[in-house]
Amino acid sequence: MSDTLSVKDNRTGKEYTLPITDGNLRAMDLRQIKVKPDEFGMMSYDPAYMNTACGQSKVSFLDGERGILRYRGYPIEELAENCTFLEVAYLLINGELPNETELREWVAQVNHHRLVHENVKKIMEGFHYDAHPMGMLTSTVAALSTFYPDAKNIKDADSRMLQVVRLLAKMPTIAAYAYRHSQGLPYAYPDNDLSYTENFMHMLWKRTEPKYSTNPVLARALDVLFILHADHEQNASTTTMRNVGSAQADPYASTAAACAALSGPLHGGANEEVLTMLAQIGSREHIPDYIKQVKEGRCKLMGFGHRVYKNYDPRARIIKRTAEEVFKVTGRNPKLDIAIELEKIALEDEYFIKRKLYPNVDFYSGIIYQAMGFKPEMFTVLFAIPRTAGWLAQWLEMLNDPEQKIARPRQVYAGHELRHTPAAMLEELTAGVR
Ligand code: CMC
Repeated sequence: MSDTLSVKDNRTGKEYTLPITDGNLRAMDLRQIKVKPDEFGMMSYDPAYMNTACGQSKVSFLDGERGILRYRGYPIEELAENCTFLEVAYLLINGELPNETELREWVAQVNHHRLVHENVKKIMEGFHYDAHPMGMLTSTVAALSTFYPDAKNIKDADSRMLQVVRLLAKMPTIAAYAYRHSQGLPYAYPDNDLSYTENFMHMLWKRTEPKYSTNPVLARALDVLFILHADHEQNASTTTMRNVGSAQADPYASTAAACAALSGPLHGGANEEVLTMLAQIGSREHIPDYIKQVKEGRCKLMGFGHRVYKNYDPRARIIKRTAEEVFKVTGRNPKLDIAIELEKIALEDEYFIKRKLYPNVDFYSGIIYQAMGFKPEMFTVLFAIPRTAGWLAQWLEMLNDPEQKIARPRQVYAGHELRHTPAAMLEELTAGVR
């Protein structure tokens, strides 16, 4: 069996033999297909990248049909059960889980970089009192590139790794400051006695007590949620990270761009939208009416559907379990009953079955976050913190990939043929008369 594809162009009768690599066709191999020799050649047309692989990646593996997610080969279920978020971040970035010494050094490095420059606080103080935390996070991450001009040395491996650690360490600090700004509270400095998620909770919720104490069940639940959100192959924000990074922008600029993509309601903004939707539905008896509106195309069932998963999202299953543990501490969020009923009805409905629409990661995460005391405006920020690990892992991978260049798609031009401004036409007419 030959690993090639025979293509016959019926416009010319010409046949082409195109190589198949790893089961795929290289789009550039289509370029030789032309009717006339001076033509540009054929391209593949793929709005929204429905069937385009933008490169090779070893970071995460996703099988949408079988509901599988793995980071560097490890099943998400095992990582959520047995690891901390910082171990998983190390795995994503370095390719292997850390041993004891490596982990100790990694945690120490991250702890060391948790503080932000005092001028970052001044930038954040300039935001309006009701600024959305995700807008504050995005802009402040972009501003970090002005504090670390060395980040431009993207070809220097040591400098790259320093920025990676800085970003992982400072994301929770900026996120917590954004929250406290919206509450009119003074910013709380990081506490290095605490783990990644405990410290984040301390920076968010510490008041006047000398030492903030976290509930270990809630801190672990947040750690698990961070693990589940850490990477998800070539989603919209990761693709943005890679695209901006491919122009050799520094990692702060690229991460800010990825945050901007994540903020959209079809991506990371969906968890906030789920809560708005559940509040709008209000009670179980209004669910059939809401489902009817969804089926009439008047609104979407937020937290449902996925471009890749056409089976249950494995992260949603783990989140549902985590919810039960959290509710033992916080009490049951009444929105859970609406969500469970909504899921039940949707999963039995022909509309959702036919379209393979299942709950995704955002369907239950917001309910847990709310029970833990987070405001819905913070939900996407809670997604951005751990996803930074995935963005950075993919950014490093892209920079080290000899096949990658500046990302620059082609287009199919569908605009006007050549035409002229009235002034130019007048000039031509007058020239004719002269
Ligand atoms: N509610 C109702 N109908 C839906 C939904 C939904 N949530 N999602 C898709 N559909 C319908 C859609 O209208 C279309 O129907 P038809 O074939 O009749 O036109 C069909 O299902 C296929 O949808 P699509 O828009 O072509 O699918 P997509 O792969 O382009 O979009 C999606 C994926 C996630 C953007 C979409 O399912 C959606 O908008 N979901 C709600 C928002 C959401 O929960 N986003 C979080 C995604 S997971 C976390 C993340 O990656 O950030």
